[in-house]
Amino acid sequence: MGVEKNTKKLYDNQANDWSRNEPILLSDYSARPFVINLCEPIEGKNVLDMGCGEGYVGRQILKRGAKHVDGIDISDNMIANAIQIQLNENIENASYQAMDISDFKVEQQEEYDLIIAMFLFNYLSIEETQATMEKAIRLLKPGGYFIFSVPHPLLAYLKKDKYPFYFEVNGGYFSGRNNLFPGEIWRRDGVPVNVQCVHKTVQDYFMCLKNANFKTIPEVYELHITKEHIKIDEKFFGPLEDLPLHMAFKIQKL
Ligand SMILES: C[S@@+](CC[C@H](N)C(=O)[O-])C[C@H]1O[C@@H](n2cnc3c(N)ncnc32)[C@H](O)[C@@H]1O
Repeated sequence: MGVEKNTKKLYDNQANDWSRNEPILLSDYSARPFVINLCEPIEGKNVLDMGCGEGYVGRQILKRGAKHVDGIDISDNMIANAIQIQLNENIENASYQAMDISDFKVEQQEEYDLIIAMFLFNYLSIEETQATMEKAIRLLKPGGYFIFSVPHPLLAYLKKDKYPFYFEVNGGYFSGRNNLFPGEIWRRDGVPVNVQCVHKTVQDYFMCLKNANFKTIPEVYELHITKEHIKIDEKFFGPLEDLPLHMAFKIQKL
């Protein structure tokens, strides 16, 4: 398949650059606020955060009234940072586990009202993505939602300059499926962090959901830089204006 599995090392090495409680990464502006809004109503929900990182999104979900957030991440250092922040802030209703999502066993079915996966699937092959979605549907209560974001599959092909976000193509739009595209995303303070994308087409995401047995039509959003972003910081957001940056999917389990 040609995918070099170094995700754990990638995130263990740069875990401290990801620790934050305020927006700093480009995607903290261009994706996460939108996707967190998609999670509403959050009040009282039991949430699973797949690929939780150091817990930034889960903490925001808790601030909006979630009952409990369970986080799973492959990186020991990201999880250590999540636990440290949890201790510093006396957060009681979160638990974190360092584990590859592919090794996660579904023991209790229909446990969660909401499952999120923010920029996890760009680290998984098509086969692993489908297997993870199969776990998500089993773990969701009927009526619950699965919400995830991924890099827009076209971005790598449309954006040639690096700053402030890019992926380097490794194969064509179709022939490059399951190939690893290295990339970087910048923080507003000028620090770039390394990211990767196991390339999938738009169709791949839909087929994974269908094959995982989701029966409803997902809401799909193509996230991009808005006039509001440009007003905040034209130098930072300007190079990305009019480009498709991320996709967000929201789908219900019947
Ligand atoms: C781009 S970061 C996003 C972190 C977090 N979801 C957020 O939005 O701030 C991707 C995260 O996915 C985790 N990850 C990648 N592959 C994984 C896997 N197979 N199992 C669990 N976590 C994984 C990485 O360690 C990293 O923390």
